[in-house]
Amino acid sequence: MKEKLKKLVSDAITEINATSKEADLLNIKSKYLGKKSELNTLMSSLKDMSSSEKKEYGSLFNQIKKELEAKINSRLDELNNQVKFNFDNTLPAHYSKGSLHPVTIVAKEVTDILKRMGFTVVVGPEMDDDYHNFVALNIPENHPARDMQDTYWLSNGKLLRGHTSTNQVRAMQNYGAPIRICAPGRCFRNEDLDACHENTFFQLEGMVIDKQVSINNLIYVMRELLKEVFKTDVQVRLRPGFFPFVEPGFELDCSCLICGGKGCPTCKNSGWLELCPCGMIHPNVLKEGGIDPNEYMGFAFGLGLTRLAMMKYKINDIRVLNSGDLRRLNEFDIK
Ligand code: DAH
Repeated sequence: MKEKLKKLVSDAITEINATSKEADLLNIKSKYLGKKSELNTLMSSLKDMSSSEKKEYGSLFNQIKKELEAKINSRLDELNNQVKFNFDNTLPAHYSKGSLHPVTIVAKEVTDILKRMGFTVVVGPEMDDDYHNFVALNIPENHPARDMQDTYWLSNGKLLRGHTSTNQVRAMQNYGAPIRICAPGRCFRNEDLDACHENTFFQLEGMVIDKQVSINNLIYVMRELLKEVFKTDVQVRLRPGFFPFVEPGFELDCSCLICGGKGCPTCKNSGWLELCPCGMIHPNVLKEGGIDPNEYMGFAFGLGLTRLAMMKYKINDIRVLNSGDLRRLNEFDIK
């Protein structure tokens, strides 16, 4: 037995000294000290020994265990020190510093501006229901306006929201009137991908409800917002637009940021860019939100954040934004 133990110890020490990898050292540890190790098997014979042998071998086993453990630990320290020693701290540092995504930057910028105007930021679920996406917004089942969104329906009967307008009635019901909220978020529509279309994009919903709210207030908010985002005075104009949840509804255009309104290929020589659908909230929607349309009125807008980021950073292909391709995203040199 003693011979066996001697050999076991010397084998283990040879192997410990020969290894140069931490992982191998752990394997050696389990080979010599683990449950299935020879030492463990020998130790289980203790119970059949006489009491004097038990005493002798018991302490011998313990001594061997401690010795091997200490040997393994000190070899581990040695290896770790070698790693430190091998580290050449005179080599030039190579690191790439990340940056925020263009859409994240624009979303933060816009919500910061709106917060200063008294808006509260709210968030709603990306997986929502028919009620919040359509019915609550004055778009009942089978209404032709549902065709404006090619919606992703889920097998659980829910849907991926097609717009952030889902937050309108939810916020009315949660907080009542008067209210000023904005809700940035990801939206989904079944679109074929090309340079201008994505199935996943970002919007920001804005909504103000109070006793006296007019289209002038809406125009003021949009102008101030765009002025700050683009750091230049921007003209806006409204054209009629149809959305069942607003009456009247508009398309808000802003003067072209590339040519300043003179006319260029980006604005198709019109001097205007289509930016944001909006309007005065329909009485049916207010009612659905538990707000009396005879007492309160409001406006809402659906700002395309993805669109805004593309305009701000002059990104001409929407697909770049969701690609995760850092070589492309880093091109915009956003600080
Ligand atoms: N939710 C609409 C869409 O994505 C856009 C929209 C239109 C939002 C009018 C509004 C609004 O708040 O008032 O197609």
